[in-house]
This record gives sequence, structure tokens and C-alpha cells, in this order.
Amino acid sequence: MENIYVIEYIDAIQVLDSRGDPTVEAIVKTKKGIGRAISPSGASRSSFEAYELRDGDPKIYKGRSVLRAVDNIRRYVAPALVGLDSRMQRDIDQKLIQIDGTPNKSRLGGNATTAVSLANLKAAADTAGMPLYAYIGGLSAREIPVPMMNLINGGAHAGNELSFQEFLIVPTGFDSFSEALRAGVEVYKTLKDLLKEKYGKSSINVGDEGGFAPPMRSIYEALDMLEKAISKSGYSCGDDIYLALDIAASQIYRDGFYIVDDKRLSKGEMIDLIVDLSSRYPLLSIEDPLEENDLEGFSDLRKRLGKTVVVGDDLLSTNKERLRKAIEAGAVGGAIMKINQAGTFTEAMDFAQEAMRSGVIVITSHRSGDTEDTSISHIAIGLKTQLVKMGAPARGERTSKYNEILRIEHYLGGEARYMRIR
Ligand code: PGA
Ligand code: ZN
Repeated sequence: MENIYVIEYIDAIQVLDSRGDPTVEAIVKTKKGIGRAISPSGASRSSFEAYELRDGDPKIYKGRSVLRAVDNIRRYVAPALVGLDSRMQRDIDQKLIQIDGTPNKSRLGGNATTAVSLANLKAAADTAGMPLYAYIGGLSAREIPVPMMNLINGGAHAGNELSFQEFLIVPTGFDSFSEALRAGVEVYKTLKDLLKEKYGKSSINVGDEGGFAPPMRSIYEALDMLEKAISKSGYSCGDDIYLALDIAASQIYRDGFYIVDDKRLSKGEMIDLIVDLSSRYPLLSIEDPLEENDLEGFSDLRKRLGKTVVVGDDLLSTNKERLRKAIEAGAVGGAIMKINQAGTFTEAMDFAQEAMRSGVIVITSHRSGDTEDTSISHIAIGLKTQLVKMGAPARGERTSKYNEILRIEHYLGGEARYMRIR
């Protein structure tokens, strides 16, 4: 009998991400299905991520074009994968790793491997006639993740002076994703009014992830403002809605010190600051509180924080070995999963499952440079990760992902279950 899952054709093109930077889109066709996926791109990348291959010619897209990555897919990946069964995702991802042959995917480019790996996953699901989340997670995939919504942008994501990268709200106390999203949007709108009133209308311009980028200078100011927006919207902060932070501390680490609100803090002072923040605000989690090599610092901090979850993003870089070491050191209670940090779906999935087996909460995450691609909405539900990070409820590359979750929740109807975090 004819195998309809066999890959017949693979191609790639250069498209744009939300910052106007070129990125890779891959297309995989089987006999009866098609998958198309686009690699996202981070601005605050760790040194341990899969390598993002860019052409570097300053005359073309200011050095940011990805034509070599596209060409690598056509020249090396397509001939090796055509003829394989698209359902053999692990073998296909292994083949990508093998063709690349480097420890960080620098030959093919992590942007090339990510796009192909996801396009293949989608092609297999399409061939099976199944939505992607169900193809990944089967009949039990019916739990809808809690969104961590990045309402105030700073750091590498905004043209303001805020030292921390992300100030988030986490609507946990609701019965469904759509109710939680509604609350998040109401807080976003209230925040907009409050910012305009206090700082004028230039303060409501948005950053890379759709959150506001106000001219604040202090992290306390940002957290106070979020608390105010939550209560003014009629919700209880620390009950219906939690706060969360992504400090992205590697970005503010210079010569052994952390630069926060114009002050130079030693590691000890940075830890004291974070402990103070967690005692003053209902913070569900704090991501990358220290720079990406300081495993010991993460463990020390974790011992001093009560319920606030310490999350590793750059620290772990969606890398199973780094996760294992972090778990052994007791360094994290939460882990960010970004497919393009790993460079293939299988590696990211293995990372997430390893984390969950050890009781570590997993957060499926977008990148600050993202696109209309909605793979992560399906992946989060398919893999049953507890949380998702998809930015503010604004800008198409963010809302496309929220909207896809709304569609899945609607489709599941009474079967859908909103994740319980606390
Ligand atoms: P990035 O930031 O996509 O710019 O790396 C996201 C994050 O740090 O969580
Ligand atoms: Zn982060």
C-alpha cells in the first residue's frame, strides 16, 4: 500500500519577522499533506543556543539576511529527507543534527533546522488530518496553558531605561483560557490609561513584545503600576492575577556586577534585591534572575525565595544537559522551552519532558522577534506544558498565538481544562 506520509518535497524561502528581520520559512510536502513553519528570533539570546545563521553582508538587510540558511535547506537537507516517513520525527531531527555535524548547529543554522523540523511535524499532522496539538498529544491533550502576558517591556526589547526585560501578569484564577485572556486584556487597557495619565501619550508606545515601553526608571515603579492596573480593573492581585518578571540578567551583567536602576549591584546585592521584590509583590515566578553561568547563584537564591518560582531561560537554553545539571543543583523550579534554542522539535520535547518528570514547571515560549506562525500554541497543549509566554495581547505575531489557543479551546468545548498553577 502507498505510504501517504512519505516526504516528497522540501523547500525554503526568506521571509520577515516582527522586527523586519529576515528569517527562514520551510515547506515540507508529503503525498497527502503540507507543513509550513517559520523560525523566530531572539534579541536577548544566550551563548548556549542553537546558532542563528545570518549572511553578514552589511549591504543586504544590514547583514541580517538568511539566504545561506535557506540554501542549506535546499542543497543539503532536502535531498537527505525526501523519501523518509514524516511521522518519524525523531529520526528526521536526528538526521538534521547529523547533517549539521556541529555541537550548536552552526553549519546548517539553527534557524534552518528549526523551520524544517517544525514544518515536518506540521506536514505529518496535516497528512493524518489532525490538528497539530492532537497529533502531538493524542486524545489526552485537552489542558489549556496559563498565559504569562508581558505588559511592560524593558531591557533589550524596548527603547526605555527599564533594567529588567519583562514585567508580566499571570491570570491564574479563572475557569478557562478565554476568561483569563479577557482579564489580561482588561488589565492591559487599564494600564494604558494609567500610563497616559501619569507619563503622557508617548508612554503608550509598545516594545518588541507588544507591552508598553514607558519612560520609567525604576523597577518598583513598573511593578506598582501593574498592581494598580490589576486592582483598578476589578481583579485581585495575588489571587486572580499574579505578577512575574523576566530579568534577563545576562543582559545587565558587566564585569561581575548587575546594573539595575543605574546602580552597580554585586551578586549578593542582586540576590537581596530579588528576595525583597518577592516579599513585596505577589510574584509567581522570576526568570533569569542571575547571569546564565551562575548555577550556584540560582541555587542560593532559590533557597531564599518562598513560593516564587525561579525560572531558567538563558541558564538552560532548552538544552537537556544544562537542565540536568540545574536540577541536580536544585537551581530551578521552572524552565523556559523555546524550540529554536534547541534547534529541533524532538530536542525541545525531550527537554520539556525531562523537566516535567522532575517536577519542574515548563513554559512554552515565543521569541521577541516572532511571526504569524502558531506552532507553539499547539506544542504547548500537545506537550501539556503548564504555562505559555506569548507577549502582550497586541500585535499580530502575538495575537495569532493567543487566537489559535482560543480556537483550540473552543473546538475542545466541554473537554477543555484550564491548567491549575496554584
Ligand atoms: P528573546 O527574549 O526572544 O529576545 O531572547 C525572550 C526571553 O528572554 O524570554
Ligand atoms: Zn527570558
